[in-house]
Amino acid sequence: MSSAAAARALGIDFGTSNSTVGWQRPGQHALLPLEDGKPTLPSVVFFNLEERRPVFGRLALHEYLEGYEGRLMRSLKSLLGSSLLKSETTVLGSAVPFKQILGLFLGELKSRAEAIAGREFEQVVLGRPVFFVDDDPAADREAQDTLVDVARKLGFAEISFQYEPIAAAFDYESVIEREELVLIVDIGGGTSDFSLVRLSPERRALSERSADILATGGVHVGGTDFDKQLSLQGVMPLFGHGSRMKSGAPMPTATHLNLATWHTINAVYAPASQRSLASMRYDIEDPTGIDRLFRLIEQRAGHWLAMEVEASKIALTDTDARTVDLARIEPGLAAALDRSLFEDAIADALARVQGAVARLLEDAGVRAEAVDTLFFTGGSSGIPALRRAVGELLPQARRVEGDTFGSIGAGLAIEAARRYG
Ligand SMILES: Nc1ncnc2c1ncn2[C@@H]1O[C@H](COP(=O)(O)OP(=O)(O)OP(=O)(O)O)[C@@H](O)[C@H]1O
Ligand SMILES: [Mg+2]
Repeated sequence: MSSAAAARALGIDFGTSNSTVGWQRPGQHALLPLEDGKPTLPSVVFFNLEERRPVFGRLALHEYLEGYEGRLMRSLKSLLGSSLLKSETTVLGSAVPFKQILGLFLGELKSRAEAIAGREFEQVVLGRPVFFVDDDPAADREAQDTLVDVARKLGFAEISFQYEPIAAAFDYESVIEREELVLIVDIGGGTSDFSLVRLSPERRALSERSADILATGGVHVGGTDFDKQLSLQGVMPLFGHGSRMKSGAPMPTATHLNLATWHTINAVYAPASQRSLASMRYDIEDPTGIDRLFRLIEQRAGHWLAMEVEASKIALTDTDARTVDLARIEPGLAAALDRSLFEDAIADALARVQGAVARLLEDAGVRAEAVDTLFFTGGSSGIPALRRAVGELLPQARRVEGDTFGSIGAGLAIEAARRYG
């Protein structure tokens, strides 16, 4: 790209929780203001039943929380590479394939970017996690192919990918002043992604960087898993999770698992699921939890509860305790959450993240002492226990915090300009 021109291509960071679009132009910040002047568009679609139209982002969350009737969908990216993607979901009374909903959201990103830029785009670099799916190359391939297919239908003629943690590295590289060996740690909503890269001001201009990428790695652990574990340990017990049937067997957990998992919350409202709860009620020792589940279902409050749990998780990054007020389910009901309960709940997930980083260093054959910088990005990267778990492996490395929600999109814009001019 000539330094005086705007790039031809967009970089799109389609995230599990938040998305951004980057476009390189001289003298301007790459990230486009997608909603209310902010660079992020939360990856959320709400089908408003009354007005029979989809809305996106913060507005979608707002309409849902205001109590408009309709269907809320979050964590769409988690469907990529899963068998659910092939299924349909009922939206405003008709069956709609999930892939079509994915297309709606990505189409919204494209059209907002085009409205801001005042032009159309046919080239795009899409970010992708190092693994959409752990330990299943075929499903992983399918996840990427799905995105290509969706992007092509939206009118993109040239579509290519870059690993999210490599994009973040390029963003960081745009501000450094000397060579550094950097471990990028991007902990988002759905996945944890890492890259070990050699960065320097001189290398910025090179188009071929494979020799500078010493290793990439990742694991399917992210903020939505932390929400799930916090919900299961700290809130779902109030809704019967872990209670006993009269037979002595534990209460089946499907409803609790669905409620604690962003992209399966709507399954709880399905008639079959409600029927199975109703029949369980006869056989359970203490029906209090099931009765609360019925009130929650009646109020279609599954996403509300998940948002309360997520807000508590975020609060626990800076405070020791937080209470979820459940009075709308039952007067006086509340879930008391604190940091140690949260840290216990996510201990296994953190061990997986730590193991993946350790493996990456080992595979790269790089001694921990050789790494100059530990670069954190992604919304979940601020969780104190997570910083400790990763930091332990590289005690001497300098810590740098990127733009929590923007590094990937900005780096994809750099890559898009390099690849397509
Ligand atoms: N202060 C905080 N403490 C803990 N978690 C946080 C904080 N702020 C945001 N999060 C979590 O960060 C996640 C979103 O991060 P981010 O926007 O980086 O993810 P994403 O890019 O959409 O996901 P991915 O890259 O995995 O597809 C959410 O799970 C959110 O709850
Ligand atoms: Mg991300």
